[in-house]
Amino acid sequence: MLEDFIYQNKTKIYFGEKSLDYLKDELANYKDNILLVYGHESIKKIGLYDYLIKILNNSKKNVFELSDVRPNPSYEKVLEGIKLVKENNIDLILAVGGGSVIDCAKGISVGAYYDKGDVFKDLYLAKKSLDKNQKIVPVGSILTMVGTGSEMNGGSVITNYDLNIKEGRVFFGCEPRFSILNPKLTYTVSEYQMRSGIFDAFSHMMEQYFSGSDDNVSDDLLEALMKSLIKNSYLSYQNPKNYIARSNLMWIASMALNTILGVGKTQDWNVHNIEHQIGAYTDCAHGMGLAVISPNYYRYIYKDGLEKFKRFAINVFNVNPNGKSDDEVALKGIDCLEEFIKASKLATNLEELGVHDADLVKEIAYSVNLSPTSYKILNHDDVYKILMSCFKSNK
Ligand code: NZQ
Ligand code: ZN
Repeated sequence: MLEDFIYQNKTKIYFGEKSLDYLKDELANYKDNILLVYGHESIKKIGLYDYLIKILNNSKKNVFELSDVRPNPSYEKVLEGIKLVKENNIDLILAVGGGSVIDCAKGISVGAYYDKGDVFKDLYLAKKSLDKNQKIVPVGSILTMVGTGSEMNGGSVITNYDLNIKEGRVFFGCEPRFSILNPKLTYTVSEYQMRSGIFDAFSHMMEQYFSGSDDNVSDDLLEALMKSLIKNSYLSYQNPKNYIARSNLMWIASMALNTILGVGKTQDWNVHNIEHQIGAYTDCAHGMGLAVISPNYYRYIYKDGLEKFKRFAINVFNVNPNGKSDDEVALKGIDCLEEFIKASKLATNLEELGVHDADLVKEIAYSVNLSPTSYKILNHDDVYKILMSCFKSNK
């Protein structure tokens, strides 16, 4: 059954090879001062920066820049952006990059005119509501890397490196006003980041799937998209310039976390909660962290969600249930997930993420914010056990 829900998504999507052509029309909807937010070097290397500056100049915009947003974006960068917004009366934040850049832009957007305290502590940690009258600076995005879904949701994940906390928050109604998705812009993403991003999208779907009862359309949709992601990921690994595969993956990843697939049902998100803290301590690539945790976490909890794990095995990985017990079917599905992770050349143990000793594991485990809606309600000792099973020596 679907529980009652309200759904709205404000993002207008321009998808395809010619999608950048629409930027000038979108720019016409905003006043003159634009803050261009981007990462380290990729948009300059691929010629996108020069192209955008030309469009912005032709549109007679005043361009201010916030560059060098790092993967696992820092709160420090958000504060730098907030200063630029206030000093220059910014009308639109144009985020060009992957999830890190777009998340940072959203942090700036909601934080710029928040005047009741510390943005990270109040909005990200304490999840205080935004005042209805508070000004939110609109964000538009040009996506250059597939995975997070940030281009079409209100999520923002920021790391406070002073506190060693990576924390996410969904700001409802603060989705990008528009997002431009040109699959060809993702061709230059390194193989490592591409594979990491694809698994991130897969994990988003598992997080929404592995929770709650078994009788809603959201789970049916999730199964279809998980299967399609697996098929298209293999095609893109064979040929990264396969437009069919890369365009399908780009849209699957947006759908995977534009929040429509999770409406009317509970969700888990413990894999993400655990990964965020590994990321806070090690700065690992998000999708790689998820890949290490997922099989071990699911083996730990599957008995509490046995029906769904069986369904996953049969409907997503085509496991033949004949002659197998329920436990065997469910576990075979998790084995298939692990094989997919290996075939995708993702990280498979904590050492690869930079975690080498049990003391650090303990510190990470006890810093995790745990989900109240997972099949098995975990405590921090459980997280510690799960993480200890993620060492190479345990494989
Ligand atoms: O900095 P540059 O030089 O731009 O390089 C980036 C970066 O090093 C590079 N890159 C991006 N587009 C490229 C490219 N390189 C060549 N060609 C291109 N076209 O890729 C590297 C990684 O970028 P990043 O933005 O960090 O990757 P991703 O999109 O995976 O974002 C990860 C961040 O998003 C958060 C993660 O926790 C992590 O901090 N998430 C955000 C979510 C959300 N907003 O809803 C949900 C997710 O679960 C996730 O937590
Ligand atoms: Zn994710």
